[in-house]
Amino acid sequence: MLFRFLLIIFSVCLIIIPSAAEIICIETNQNVLVFETDNDNRLLQTYFGKKLLNASDYGLIRSQNKQSDSNGGVFNHIYTPSGTWNLVEPALTVLHADGNRGTDLQYVEHEQRIVSNDVVETKILLQDPVYKTQVILVFKSYLNHDVIEQWAEIKNNEKKPIILEKYASANLNFMNREYYLTHFHGYWAKEMQPEQTKLTSGIKTIDSKLGTRANIYNHPVFMLSFDQPATEEAGLVLLGTLAWSGNFKLQFEVDPYHNLRLISGINPYASAYPLQTGEVFITPAFIFTYSEEGKGKASRHLHSWMRKHRLLDGEGSRMTLLNNWEATYFKFDQQKLHTLIGDAKNLGVDLFLLDDGWFGNKHPRNNPRQGLGDWQHNVEKLPNGISSLVKEANENGVKFGIWVEPEMVNPKSELYEKHPEWVIRQAERPEVYFRNQLVLDLSNPQVQEFVYDTMDEILSIKPEISYVKWDCNAVIFNAHSSYLETKGQMQSQLYVDYVKGLYKVLERLRVKYPTLPMMLCSGGGGRVDYEVLRYFTEFWPSDNTDPIERVFIQWNNSYFYPSIATCCHITAWSDVGIKFKTDVAMMGKMGYDLVVEKLSEDEMKFSQQVLKDYSRLKDIIWYGDLYRLQSPYENPYASLMYVDEKKNKAVVFNYVISNRYYDNYSPVAVKLQGLNPQREYIVKEINLFEGKNSPIQTKAYTGEFLMKNGVNPILRKGRTSVVLEVTAQ
Ligand code: GLA
Repeated sequence: MLFRFLLIIFSVCLIIIPSAAEIICIETNQNVLVFETDNDNRLLQTYFGKKLLNASDYGLIRSQNKQSDSNGGVFNHIYTPSGTWNLVEPALTVLHADGNRGTDLQYVEHEQRIVSNDVVETKILLQDPVYKTQVILVFKSYLNHDVIEQWAEIKNNEKKPIILEKYASANLNFMNREYYLTHFHGYWAKEMQPEQTKLTSGIKTIDSKLGTRANIYNHPVFMLSFDQPATEEAGLVLLGTLAWSGNFKLQFEVDPYHNLRLISGINPYASAYPLQTGEVFITPAFIFTYSEEGKGKASRHLHSWMRKHRLLDGEGSRMTLLNNWEATYFKFDQQKLHTLIGDAKNLGVDLFLLDDGWFGNKHPRNNPRQGLGDWQHNVEKLPNGISSLVKEANENGVKFGIWVEPEMVNPKSELYEKHPEWVIRQAERPEVYFRNQLVLDLSNPQVQEFVYDTMDEILSIKPEISYVKWDCNAVIFNAHSSYLETKGQMQSQLYVDYVKGLYKVLERLRVKYPTLPMMLCSGGGGRVDYEVLRYFTEFWPSDNTDPIERVFIQWNNSYFYPSIATCCHITAWSDVGIKFKTDVAMMGKMGYDLVVEKLSEDEMKFSQQVLKDYSRLKDIIWYGDLYRLQSPYENPYASLMYVDEKKNKAVVFNYVISNRYYDNYSPVAVKLQGLNPQREYIVKEINLFEGKNSPIQTKAYTGEFLMKNGVNPILRKGRTSVVLEVTAQ
């Protein structure tokens, strides 16, 4: 026996059921996933949704529904294997040592244990009766957040190596009238564009084959509404994602009985993975939440879960910053940086962030075509080195951060000249570049060592660097590893081993630098997911900082990522004016990336004041509950608000996102949410230029009034963004 079946006091499923079937429930506070064995000892998923009042009813579900059909090879198995009785999309395909591809998975036993007040773990052991291949499905239920994290552990019990051809993380089954999938696609500067599709018969696939910055075309996050499209406040909806920083595949198959099978995992594309005798392959986690009260509640659950259980320092603090990228690009020297550090101090931000262009000597990084990989400071631009800059910043009361892109190399670099074998490329073919660069082979332990040492060296500079922006600006072309070749390993391991190598480096760095704030960037939002955020405190959602575009990009990111992790900078993109830009940046983790000198005196004063207000209100924005009030997809304006847990304070953001004349006059009050109806709240407009009066009278209203009738932000021409501070009396 691998593990013993444990009785858990609160498990409502330990009930006497009429048949000999085994019933397993994976519960959160609100919801439950129910599994039941059939006569052949296959474990089938019979229910997904809100818990039923009467737990004994779970045993009745299977008899009432049509979820499997042995004639058609259709099954609601919880981890569908292939090559035997199943003919629908599998979760697992194994090439056994004898050349067969048939696998059966039967239930053996399961175990449930309480990990903490909030977490219960269930492990279910499945096994092939012929080959003894084992799969342990692990489900971690985060009770208070209604979040489930699940993954598979696949073990080779054969005498020879086997090859995993498909190895999904999750296989869920649903029985509803209709299914509406919202996925998010895009490209550089237009990341996270939502698209809603009604799922019809057949398979809808969302995937990535880009290797590194896997999110440029499709993001590994989605929303699935059942019966009808969910709204913010109503409807049945699942928000899910694969926690993996490489190629992913999300499949949605509607079968002949109109049941939906969701299979999510590493993309099997060019990724057959060998497993030696006795070895275990642990898949990445699939993480999801489910709500019967719309998308708003589901995303609030993900935010609080993220902050508490996943995001590095998720309940900690963050720094405001001034980044020099858009102010200088590659054109700067010590003197210029001296001025910019002074600007950071004047503005009142916490940190100055030095971006790309500070390194490379033989091939100075004065443009994106060279120098990447040579991580020594450029002695011409910065004769006194980085440490003198850190010192200067600190003397000015600001911290110092630095940009790196350690996974990459320009062919024109000393690193490439010295170690062409460290680069992912096919030596016989012409090289294919993405932003003039290639990707280092992180499947190679020597390359992992190099990346770690590079970072360690930079972070050992004294006085200390306080912040890192970690970029990743190329995808993998010509996927070939000379390391795997030398070791006689399969080339199809590369995509997976690259990501594992990346995690190894990050893991090691976090042992030595556990709390150092690090921003994850990838030419904007080309790489962010629920696994990599274990190592990063924040991410850069897009290089597109046009504030109107950002309202949309940040809106969509806000379904999955908490505002504390979402970097929003005020830049020179667009000419809507500093107020609109600031109001948009303030709804996330705020920063600046502009020429401070170009700000007028009024704009400077305005920005200094906002930074003070942000510091006062950031806890509400970062840790509060987010309510999306008016969608920019359905209105010519957008409104959203954050409320603190105790309902003492809220911040409401409103934006006009249309140029049309009448759209500039908000006709109705915006109904707030999440307040205490009994209490009185003072509503006050903030983020105003000095001397500018608000047409909104600072005044008290009851929470009930603000939620039932709402408050009119009086958006109009000249007032295209309005921020309101709402304070309980
Ligand atoms: C990427 C990032 C930018 C900047 C440049 C530097 O494009 O998204 O913010 O850091 O790289 O080369």
